[in-house]
Amino acid sequence: MVSTSLRFLGHAALWLETGDSHILVDPFITGNPLAPVKAEDLQPEYILVTHGHGDHLGDSVEIARRSGAAVITNAEIRDWLKQKSVRSFGMNIGGSHQFPFGTLKMTQAIHSSGLDDGTPGGSPAGFVLRTLDEKCLYMAGDTGLFGDMKLIGDEGLDVALIPIGDNYTMGPEDALRAVKLLHPRIVIPIHYNTFEVIKQDARAWAELVESQTGTKVHILEPGETLRL
Ligand code: NI
Ligand code: MN
Repeated sequence: MVSTSLRFLGHAALWLETGDSHILVDPFITGNPLAPVKAEDLQPEYILVTHGHGDHLGDSVEIARRSGAAVITNAEIRDWLKQKSVRSFGMNIGGSHQFPFGTLKMTQAIHSSGLDDGTPGGSPAGFVLRTLDEKCLYMAGDTGLFGDMKLIGDEGLDVALIPIGDNYTMGPEDALRAVKLLHPRIVIPIHYNTFEVIKQDARAWAELVESQTGTKVHILEPGETLRL
């Protein structure tokens, strides 16, 4: 029987297991003060990268080269990775593709995406993943609030992972408005407390969300796993 779990690796990094597949998302491990693992201990088959910033692309090149994982990201970052001899698969906003672990759709994110060496990194993105056991996960990526989150919510989300850190992304107030548009069964706050400038009180935010919406807030400490 297929089952799905997700482990929070701090900041925006996730380890997803679904069926036989191991999927790493935005693997900023080295230099991430919250990371509960070392990059060299991770052996995924797939790596999802939402955009080019160092706190998301992270250790992707090293991990992909060592493990042979395919990096799934936007077309521009795909081209950049190909020059570095990394297996990669390019998508773009609105497109879906069926992978052995489920159907993945790339969604818009209101943000930027430059790579650390100055290369333009295409459009920033989020992902909607429908797993083989019919769980629907939305990984928002780095984004500000946008009204079309309503359309993403219409897909029927089991889990939404959304940033609450403020400054670079939505802060707690806009993240609450995002939950009202997405109406997921569970929301997991990410992209906070990694650095001083994105410090937030996730528990206070959880109380606010649960008092105003029907969504359950699941705060994952770095290293913690949620089984769906
Ligand atoms: Ni970013
Ligand atoms: Mn970020």
